[in-house]
Parts: sequence; C-alpha cells; structure tokens
Amino acid sequence: MKVQVDGDLCSGHARCWTISRKFFVLDGDGYSAMRGQGPVDVPAEFEEAARKAEANCPERAIQILE
Ligand code: F3S
Repeated sequence: MKVQVDGDLCSGHARCWTISRKFFVLDGDGYSAMRGQGPVDVPAEFEEAARKAEANCPERAIQILE
C-alpha cells in the first residue's frame, strides 16, 4: 500500500496528524509534510491509520493506492 497527499488540496486540518503523529508528520507551516511528494510506502503497522486518515481528511487530500 502507498499513500499520497495532494499538495493542492491539503489545507492543514491536521486530522491525519491527530490519527498518527508518527506517520503523518506536519511541516513547519502545519501542513502535511507528505503533500506533493508522490506516493509514499505505508509500513504494515500504519495501514489502518492511513485508511482512517483518508476517510477523515475534510479536503479529501489523502489518497490510498493499493
Ligand atoms: Fe492536510 Fe487533510 Fe491532513 S487537509 S494536514 S491531509 S487532514
């Protein structure tokens, strides 16, 4: 599984960070540090958090790629 954060959609709601502060790190401006980086591999222990973050991002900025 991979996850990507659309840099144009992420508005810094930080719900992803609230769900997993280890996997969804924020940058210095409070946006997802993953935005615009392209697909990132999701370690097995973070797969559930990635799915939960995808479902909870109000901007639909998080996409799961199977
Ligand atoms: Fe951005 Fe959505 Fe997270 S807006 S900071 S990807 S909850």
